[in-house]
Amino acid sequence: MKIITVEDQLQGAQIAVAKIKKILSHKPGVFGLATGSSPLEIYRQLSQSKLDFSNSISINLDEYVGLAPNHPQSYHYFMKQNLFNSKQFLHSYIPDGLNPNAQEVENEYEQIIKDHPIDLQILGIGENGHIGFNEPLTSFDSRTHRVALTKSTIDANARFFDNADEVPKYAYSMGIGTIMKAKEIVFVAYGEKKAKAVYQMIDEPVTIDVPASVLQTHPNVTVIIDHKAGALLKKIE
Ligand code: GLP
Repeated sequence: MKIITVEDQLQGAQIAVAKIKKILSHKPGVFGLATGSSPLEIYRQLSQSKLDFSNSISINLDEYVGLAPNHPQSYHYFMKQNLFNSKQFLHSYIPDGLNPNAQEVENEYEQIIKDHPIDLQILGIGENGHIGFNEPLTSFDSRTHRVALTKSTIDANARFFDNADEVPKYAYSMGIGTIMKAKEIVFVAYGEKKAKAVYQMIDEPVTIDVPASVLQTHPNVTVIIDHKAGALLKKIE
């Protein structure tokens, strides 16, 4: 893992955007996209850039089960608001949260990723070390699947909903095995709330208790963190 400590999200996003630009300078790309606050500045900079994604493909990590694409908390809506309204991709894939047939969603999504291997995956981290929506104890071999969200994730997301009962309890997420197939991963985490998870991911042994720790075994990961997220790290450049 290459660890880069940045002053703020602006600087972090510049590094991520430069990597995206590099891929696009050779060919249209397949970009794995994440939601959450951590990649927001990346999407802002991409939106304002001159980069052309019209021949590229985007594949999002996950989506809540049961939320329609126009629900303000759905990841479809998030991506539209933060990137797709300004940048059109040839195809943008996000799991269909309204399809109750999990098997169908899983098979279709895996096929999409097989047909379009991901060049660069943007990745954030949950406070409990989850990546995508792969909660602790998820198998490292997992493929796209329906996930029961943990209480910690439901609580962390409750702030976005009018009341806690409205927070979805399930999501469709690329599996850990799916994420690990990306040729390159750009990981972003900011703030002290992520410090423990970032420490466990980098300095502790690889374990299914901390899904993000699997990234230690990926050949091409760039970890972009601010000083607060990296505060507990022992070995930092
Ligand atoms: C959700 C998403 C993750 C994301 C995490 C952290 O759980 N499924 O992909 O990494 O939130 O979000 P934030 O960047 O807002 O802290």
